[in-house]
Amino acid sequence: MTEPVGRQPGAGPAAGSERAAGAARPAPAEVLAAYAPAAGLPARVVPFGRARDARELRDLLARNPFLMAPMAGVSDSAYRLMARCGGAALAYTEMVSVAGIHYGGDKTWELAWPHDPEPDIAVQLFGSKPDQFREAAAGMRERLGNRLALIDINMACPVPKVTRKGEGSALMDDPALSARIVRACLDEAGVVVTVKIRRGRVDGVELAPEFARAMEDAGACAVAVHGRYASQYYRGQADWGVVSRVVDAVDVPVIASGDILTPQAAARVLSETGATAAMVARGSYGNPWIFSDARCMLAGEEPPVRDWAQRVAAFACHARLLAATGAHMARARSLATWYLRGMPEASHWRGRAMRCDTLEEFLALADELQAAMAGAGACAGVRVGTGERSDA
Ligand SMILES: Cc1cc2nc3c(=O)[nH]c(=O)nc-3n(C[C@H](O)[C@H](O)[C@H](O)COP(=O)(O)O)c2cc1C
Repeated sequence: MTEPVGRQPGAGPAAGSERAAGAARPAPAEVLAAYAPAAGLPARVVPFGRARDARELRDLLARNPFLMAPMAGVSDSAYRLMARCGGAALAYTEMVSVAGIHYGGDKTWELAWPHDPEPDIAVQLFGSKPDQFREAAAGMRERLGNRLALIDINMACPVPKVTRKGEGSALMDDPALSARIVRACLDEAGVVVTVKIRRGRVDGVELAPEFARAMEDAGACAVAVHGRYASQYYRGQADWGVVSRVVDAVDVPVIASGDILTPQAAARVLSETGATAAMVARGSYGNPWIFSDARCMLAGEEPPVRDWAQRVAAFACHARLLAATGAHMARARSLATWYLRGMPEASHWRGRAMRCDTLEEFLALADELQAAMAGAGACAGVRVGTGERSDA
């Protein structure tokens, strides 16, 4: 029998009573303590720690080389918490505008706010003005204190709205300015500063190895490389060869990014490229377990199989975290699509999720899903992310 995910005993107020009483939402830590175990996730997050230089950063990454990538519109505090419980060594904020910070937007600051159970985070900044980076780095240091693990500079975003202003991947055309930005952050951050780059800007013109060397000379303590040209956006296959070439070009740790969609790929990219760490982006959609599964693969072990009850429980836990961290509940609609991928009658359930607005509606849907899955006997384990069935 599966416990209804909306109403686990001893797990705080029932969905209905929350709505009826208009009670305060439980804190994120309470949500994790009550609901993460049903999803096969530990309720506590292991701190990443603080590195003073590239060598110490390499040591921290060696303990656990799997990171949750920055994803605009996705990697909010709830998402980061799920990834950390799922075994990510560290999770990045989405890219945070240094201009937004300069002009004092509270919404901008919120993007970089870790909610209580997050012991530390990687903050990614974007912009093009060294002085604004300096100000943002100082502000992060002051506001986040020990919870700031590192500052990463976005030199990878391909979106024209960003690159038109010389930000994101456009910085790869100007290594001198990019170096000044790294140094400006280093002056104020009090933590290691890293950069995230693309293979290059336009198809066929690979800039990454030389550019990475210039960023290392400027003081960057690690380089994350997304193996696609900016002109490719997210299309085509990521080239892991460029990750190897950057590994050969620099002494600081290299973090591989691009098409790391399964635990197998996460383990393989390390052995094939010599990268110190791997950054999981779209592979974490509906699959917070991918990080610990990747560690199983590294250790030569078979990762556990998750059944539908755990997937639905993970969705419900994630939805609760959205509410507990004050995020807009519309985000739970895309979460539903991701967590329920491959499920029997997925399109029906997706359609239902698209009509939900409140936490209570999402939880009621989750309860219905649990009942439907139990009724249909759809308890077979499914390898998340592949849809591959492990048994009958
Ligand atoms: C929805 C979405 C938002 C993203 N936002 C950011 C971002 O804010 N900063 C960044 O450096 N990369 C961003 N990326 C790129 C990812 O971090 C990653 O490098 C890329 O998706 C390649 O990995 P994948 O092929 O495994 O998804 C984003 C990717 C996606 C899919």
